[in-house]
Parts: sequence; structure tokens; C-alpha cells
Amino acid sequence: MASLEVDLAKIQLGQTVTVKWRGKPVFVRRRTEEDIAHANEVNLSELRDPQTDDERTKNPEWLVLVGVCTHLGCVPLANAGDWGGWFCPCHGSHYDMSGRARKGPAPYNLEVPEYKFQEDNILVIG
Ligand code: FES
Repeated sequence: MASLEVDLAKIQLGQTVTVKWRGKPVFVRRRTEEDIAHANEVNLSELRDPQTDDERTKNPEWLVLVGVCTHLGCVPLANAGDWGGWFCPCHGSHYDMSGRARKGPAPYNLEVPEYKFQEDNILVIG
């Protein structure tokens, strides 16, 4: 299956870009220190799909997520919702700064796809 290369040098701090991979949107967010602090400010016992931020990232500055709501598949909006991560307008699911489901009907966290970092600031998804 095809991989996708993303040039990370073009993404500003605090910015989320959406790329298309295998027909699905993938969100790539370059997180600020504040974003990372928010992602770690959570009591795991409050999560419906408990995962630490470390389990979901390879480098805390970069969050890579499949942009498909785990409820019924809409595309969530970035920088929105009660946790400032993503908000799905279809039925009101909120995801935090780690893409974890926090409120609304979404049963699971946004999926983290296979990816790796390459030289020259290139992210390879898939
Ligand atoms: Fe996102 Fe229903 S599809 S909340």
C-alpha cells in the first residue's frame, strides 16, 4: 500500500494540516509546549479509551491522526471542542489535544496511523 511523505518544515507551531492518505484525511499537528502540557493533563481513569499521550506519539511535538470520527465516520474539526483538540459536528464528539475521545458518542480515540520520521524533516505515513 502506498505511503505518503509530508514535509514537516512547512508546518508552523500550533498548526494542523490535513493530508489525504489511502482515501482518508490524516491530521498532522505540530503541537506547542502548551498543547503537549494539555495532552498530559489527564487522569487516565477518566478516559473511555485510556491511552497516555506517549503511547500515541513518537515525538511529542507531532501528533498524527486519522481524521475519521470513531462514532460514525465524519471528519472532526481542528482547534475546536471543549478540550481544544477536535470536535465532530455530526453528533457532538469532543477529542482532546492527543486525539482522545472525551465527550459525546465517539467510543474510541482517533486512530493513530503507522508512520515514521525520516531525514530532512519528512514524515512518512503508512
Ligand atoms: Fe462524529 Fe457521530 S460521526 S459524533
